[in-house]
Amino acid sequence: MSNVAPQRIVSNLATEQVISVHHWNDTLFSFRTTRNPGLRFINGQFVMIGLETDGRPLTRAYSIASPNYEEHLEFFSIKVPDGPLTSRLQHLRPGDPIVVSRKPTGTLVLDDVRPGRNLYLLSTGTGLAPFMSVIQDPETYERFERVILTHGVRHVSELAYADFITRELPENEFFGDVVREKLLYFPTVTREPFRNQGRITDLLDSGRLTETLGLPPLDPEHDRAMICGSPAMLRDCRALLDRRGFAVSRRIGERGDYTIEHAFVER
Ligand code: A2P
Repeated sequence: MSNVAPQRIVSNLATEQVISVHHWNDTLFSFRTTRNPGLRFINGQFVMIGLETDGRPLTRAYSIASPNYEEHLEFFSIKVPDGPLTSRLQHLRPGDPIVVSRKPTGTLVLDDVRPGRNLYLLSTGTGLAPFMSVIQDPETYERFERVILTHGVRHVSELAYADFITRELPENEFFGDVVREKLLYFPTVTREPFRNQGRITDLLDSGRLTETLGLPPLDPEHDRAMICGSPAMLRDCRALLDRRGFAVSRRIGERGDYTIEHAFVER
């Protein structure tokens, strides 16, 4: 999905400008760009973004981390020292040009999960990005009684957006009250001490995640999930949910008990 041939998408690309860049640590950063007013997207979708190199665009799929009512677009990225794109993206500065595809797509959208009681957003690493958009969508809180955002990372410094999720979003002037009532944030760290430790899969399997949050055990009758992470994380989360009788959404527009997408980490 990341290696769409440049010549096939070149006419679908618009040039935007970087507005701001935020470095979370040595390995992660976020940046905002201008948004073509004609660009419509559903919260949770991704676009191809990239840079012109030698007159040709080098692009990768990136989930849009901002909600669709904002004027800008936000993206969350890792920095790979020898990654063809992120080695260059990490040096972006305000005012720099960046290309963005005109056709957002993706499966981490509310319409691809059946109605239910609790929505689990399961992410590791930069897999958090699409869920940043989903948790800023008031519709998410209209459809579900509880929205559980999990973010698994190796190190505490990788818990990007933690302040935004715990401090800013609950104060949102339009829907902060429903966020306070319905959004549960569960960050977990695997390689250094933290209040929650271990892989999301292990914490779900053992029941520790639901217990910590005071929720009943996972149940395909009431629970729905969206998953975004590395291929290994997706595989293991899928296996866990399948064992428990959850049905996957197999294509865009088909409603399942859960839906998945790869975190578009640099290859
Ligand atoms: P761990 O430190 O035990 O590998 P990565 O940066 O490799 O994508 O990892 C991000 C987070 O996802 C880490 O906490 C990592 O844990 C965890 N992780 C890696 N593989 C899996 C998996 N198959 N299932 C669940 N979590 C995983």
